[in-house]
Amino acid sequence: MFNFGPQTPLPPNKYRMGGKHFKNDKAFIRTSVKDVKRLEKLCGLTIDSAVLDWGCGAGRLAIGIKEHLKSIRDYHGVDVQRELIDWCQLNLAGPGYRFTFVDVSNERYNPDGSPERTLSADPHSVDVFYAYSVFSHMNAADTAGYLEILGETLAPTGKAFVTCFVEEDVPEWEENPAGYGPLEWKGRLHCTRFSRQYFESLVNAGGLAVDRFEYGQETDGQSLYILRRR
Ligand SMILES: C[S@@+](CC[C@H](N)C(=O)[O-])C[C@H]1O[C@@H](n2cnc3c(N)ncnc32)[C@H](O)[C@@H]1O
Repeated sequence: MFNFGPQTPLPPNKYRMGGKHFKNDKAFIRTSVKDVKRLEKLCGLTIDSAVLDWGCGAGRLAIGIKEHLKSIRDYHGVDVQRELIDWCQLNLAGPGYRFTFVDVSNERYNPDGSPERTLSADPHSVDVFYAYSVFSHMNAADTAGYLEILGETLAPTGKAFVTCFVEEDVPEWEENPAGYGPLEWKGRLHCTRFSRQYFESLVNAGGLAVDRFEYGQETDGQSLYILRRR
């Protein structure tokens, strides 16, 4: 294991989600600290926040919070991949930092999981919700379902930082669209792309509103949404 900072272990490469972007240790840390700073600016993150890192993978955001803020009231990382959560438990959990494995279905990452959806968080309990490259690997029914649960889970003044592939004038939802983006998409839910209008209709149906939209600047051309409760 490689120790980057005074106390933050980094996950082995095989556990790092996000393809080539996060293989390099410096880039892994840099992107996570950059996102922590964006959460401060765009979502009001402070050391007193309750953060839900949904689809936390190997805890990239937790590492960024440890490096930049050090302590936090409640960081909760949730994922459907047991071995990643096991690694996080062993290496990153401690006061203010916790992780939960949820055995729910995702055709790419946990195909045999339960169809019962959960964010593993209480209603109105989350100040800052972070889902980086999670809706970019999700079917349309789950996306609608999770946005609805998100609407119930955010605190009244909570904000959500969410990335996904959206375009104008494309079908409502498509899996691995040919010729789209920088990669050749392979396997279930490698890339899921929404029409902007459809994704925003799901946001609206979940009792949420778009606070901010930035097109195409995230990993592999994803867009960034900042959402709040309506
Ligand atoms: C591309 S990775 C991104 C990991 C992390 N957010 C990051 O930016 O480094 C997508 C993650 O979402 C997780 N995931 C997919 N569906 C999920 C669900 N329904 N609940 C929780 N995690 C999920 C996957 O297991 C995977 O770790």
